[in-house]
Amino acid sequence: MPITIKKLHPLFCAEIGGVDSGGPIADATFAEIRAALDEYSVLVLRNQSLDDEKQIAFSKRFGPLEIAGKSNPGMGTPFARQSNLDIGTGAVIPPEDRRMEYQKGNYLWHTDSSFKAVPSLCSMLSARVVPPSGGNTEFATMRAAYGDLPAETKQKLEGLVAEHSLVYSRSTVSTGVLTGEMQAELPGAWQVMVRENPVNHRKNIYAGVHASHVIGWSREAGRAFIREINEFATQPKYCYSHAWRDGDLVIWDNRCVLHRATAYDTVNHKRLMQRTTVAGDAPTTKQPARYELAAE
Ligand code: OGA
Ligand code: MN
Repeated sequence: MPITIKKLHPLFCAEIGGVDSGGPIADATFAEIRAALDEYSVLVLRNQSLDDEKQIAFSKRFGPLEIAGKSNPGMGTPFARQSNLDIGTGAVIPPEDRRMEYQKGNYLWHTDSSFKAVPSLCSMLSARVVPPSGGNTEFATMRAAYGDLPAETKQKLEGLVAEHSLVYSRSTVSTGVLTGEMQAELPGAWQVMVRENPVNHRKNIYAGVHASHVIGWSREAGRAFIREINEFATQPKYCYSHAWRDGDLVIWDNRCVLHRATAYDTVNHKRLMQRTTVAGDAPTTKQPARYELAAE
């Protein structure tokens, strides 16, 4: 049975019907889903029957998975857990706990793993426990935004490389959430600021909050330019807000969309989302020697 595709936003995002990501999926059907990701950047699948094991199996169809590092409660597993529930007891984690403080970084527009030399291809988030209100995830299309940039800004961006760093982006919201060990694991990476989809050749901005500064520019000039680009790319007309329902699976293309979490009542309501992250296949540009990366 062919999949159905319903657009959710004039510029990107589609709801994919006729697929159970937790069941067996024929290669031809999977190829349609993979092609839809290149085309629509964000795919919403409703009423999925995923558990952890099935999510891993489905995610692996897209490519090898990233393993969560020391900064995530899912450390050592393919899951980055976005939740206010303790992984062991299931009890609500108090807001002042470091684990909740750490998740505040998700409220900033970002693209997953851009601070790694090989950034992620796509992520998928499976809704396991959805709060009764709030907690939407928002997405912004850096592809449509790129298309609307003035010609001189496109020219300016061409060939630019930015340094991305989790230590930098987290430092803008809170201090002390990353231990020395976590920082050592994530020295940062260089990324081109314009990417092109290898299938449809459409170009996009590649930035987000992990982008710290522009290589070869002064720190201040690079930061100001990145801020301008991020603000341009996240104007409301480029954004889709996903209101979660139980059983939703949302897949997004980290190469060309930004996303962010939004607030919910973390004291009185429960939220548990399991994220798997599919690794990319290559760095976007030449990587510096470790000593060339700025310590923030
Ligand atoms: C993520 C993320 C946002 C959310 O899982 O990568 O940024 O709404 N999640 O939980
Ligand atoms: Mn994220």
